Amino acid sequence: MSASAETRVIEIVFPMNTNSMGVLFGGHALSLMDRLAFIVASRFARKPVVTACSEKVEFRTPVKEGNLIELIGRIARVGRTSITVEIEMYAEDLLSGERNLCTTGQFVLVAVGDDGHPVPVSPAEASATYRASARDAEPPRSPSGEGES
Ligand SMILES: CC(C)(COP(=O)(O)OP(=O)(O)OC[C@H]1O[C@@H](n2cnc3c(N)ncnc32)[C@H](O)[C@@H]1OP(=O)(O)O)[C@@H](O)C(=O)NCCC(=O)NCCS
Repeated sequence: MSASAETRVIEIVFPMNTNSMGVLFGGHALSLMDRLAFIVASRFARKPVVTACSEKVEFRTPVKEGNLIELIGRIARVGRTSITVEIEMYAEDLLSGERNLCTTGQFVLVAVGDDGHPVPVSPAEASATYRASARDAEPPRSPSGEGES
């Protein structure tokens, strides 16, 4: 089963999301990562999902106020009812363009029914709709038709 499509989100680090050192607050980073994991898993399952756990979140380098952060989410594993989403977060200096991988983590989301209990995800159907939605999210092509086949 192919679930290799990615979903990307870009944010800017404003002062309200920094700590007393002027760098991105870890709790805000976790919130952004969990939000993207929720989007990725929901697009894959096309069912309501809840976060069961976050695994091994590593804050590798601090992110300064004013930097861009780009989060990339991919399906890492699909179980019977659970979907594990890996998230990479890159920091980018707006002026120099310098970019580095600052945070990584995995989130396990579980598909649930109306009663809140786990329900199976069907990988074949799910991966087809997921790939289609990820394709729709690709940036528009240039007016010159560059890159079109
Ligand atoms: C997540 C939840 C639905 C799991 O319900 P449950 O009855 O304990 O689930 P089960 O033991 O039947 O496991 C269901 C699946 O979830 C996975 N799972 C459950 N807890 C997990 C955990 N802590 N870590 C990793 N996977 C977990 C199981 O491995 C299983 O996966 P699989 O079906 O792909 O093999 C339930 O614990 C819950 O509702 N938690 C609160 C969720 C929530 O409010 N999230 C927002 C956080 S603020």
